[in-house]
Amino acid sequence: MAEELYRPGLEGIIAGETEVSTVEQDSLAYRGYPIEQLAEHATFEEVAYLLLHDDLPTVGQLQEFTRRVDAHRNLPAAVTDTIARIPPQVPGMDVLRTAISMAGHFDQSSGGDREQLVEQAIHVLAVVPSIIATRLRLLDGKQPIDAKPGLSHAAQFLYQAFGEEPEALETRLIDLTLILYAEHEFNASAFAARVTTSTLSDMYSAIVTGVGTLKGPLHGGANEEAMRLIKRFSSGPEAKAWTEQAIVDKQKIMGFGHRVYKNGDHRARILEPLMADLARQRGQQNLLDVYFAIKDTIWERKQIHMNVDYPCGLTYYLMGLPIDVYTPLFVASRVTGWAAHVIEQFTNNRIIRPRSRYVGPALRDYRPAAQRG
Ligand code: CMC
Repeated sequence: MAEELYRPGLEGIIAGETEVSTVEQDSLAYRGYPIEQLAEHATFEEVAYLLLHDDLPTVGQLQEFTRRVDAHRNLPAAVTDTIARIPPQVPGMDVLRTAISMAGHFDQSSGGDREQLVEQAIHVLAVVPSIIATRLRLLDGKQPIDAKPGLSHAAQFLYQAFGEEPEALETRLIDLTLILYAEHEFNASAFAARVTTSTLSDMYSAIVTGVGTLKGPLHGGANEEAMRLIKRFSSGPEAKAWTEQAIVDKQKIMGFGHRVYKNGDHRARILEPLMADLARQRGQQNLLDVYFAIKDTIWERKQIHMNVDYPCGLTYYLMGLPIDVYTPLFVASRVTGWAAHVIEQFTNNRIIRPRSRYVGPALRDYRPAAQRG
């Protein structure tokens, strides 16, 4: 029998090879480009192109790419109608899961070769912000707004959600979070999408798998939970007292900790100063006090760093976005990483089928129901 290798949660296990990104203790890079440089100089569209192809686009390639994304932004009426029929209390991630699946039925580009897969990825990329914005507006009793070709991906979402062209600062902050969220190697949702792909399923099934996996609070759902936590407190000392008790009670605090990063999450460090500037600009020092009280207490008592979801939750909150759209916005970005993994898995596939260690009852004989009990 082959040697049995078992690590709970697959911790530290190399489950496949990838060219898409590297997540190391002290570096994160998309196809070799350090996240710090992409965050400072690139746009999300460039990053999306980089992930779906092998390198950053030329000016012409970028224009062609954004033209293709723009061509798919408006939702088919049946998708808008489906969104409108979902009860208002249903969480945004569940709406997104259903609506992406529905939108897939209107994508003409089925098929599994590389070009067709990129086309499907572009289609998904285009519809996700429209779905989020449509849901927001319908819940507010407003009519959905058509996309405005030529706006950036970030500005497009804000425009479709709020009906006016956004300020440069808000566009930049959404763009930055989209860049930071785009890709992260074999995280749970990308891995789940790869498992789906490995059975030779299809792009939409893999993306929907990713949405369902990202939703959980131990993964992307943490940005919403982190903000719900910050909102509970009216002062730094109140937040500190709660956090101290939560640590004693061994509660998991969302927005902290990471499977790979034990010296801190680069993405959180990039975002935090911009978030803090925004908070001061908006006169929200009190929220910042609560934010830092929780963060500093967790560090003092447990030496656990924040992850990207912690500053991201407050960034979106300061922009006036409803909490229910935070994880959907994570999807608006991560669809690019998932699609890159789907394409890579299809290109070099072997079904992902690990083994389990059986810990149930020993072999025993079947007895008819009348003889049991
Ligand atoms: N709050 C309190 N304690 C924590 C936390 C936390 N957020 N994260 C880890 N710990 C403790 C954990 O209890 C354990 O302590 P002890 O050794 O005393 O039992 C120790 O740190 C090691 O943690 P772990 O549970 O072995 O870590 P893991 O690799 O299994 O889980 C994690 C990683 C991200 C799921 C976990 O840190 C967590 O649940 N964090 C909160 C959810 C969260 O913020 N998720 C976002 C992840 S990053 C971005 C994304 O994907 O969206």
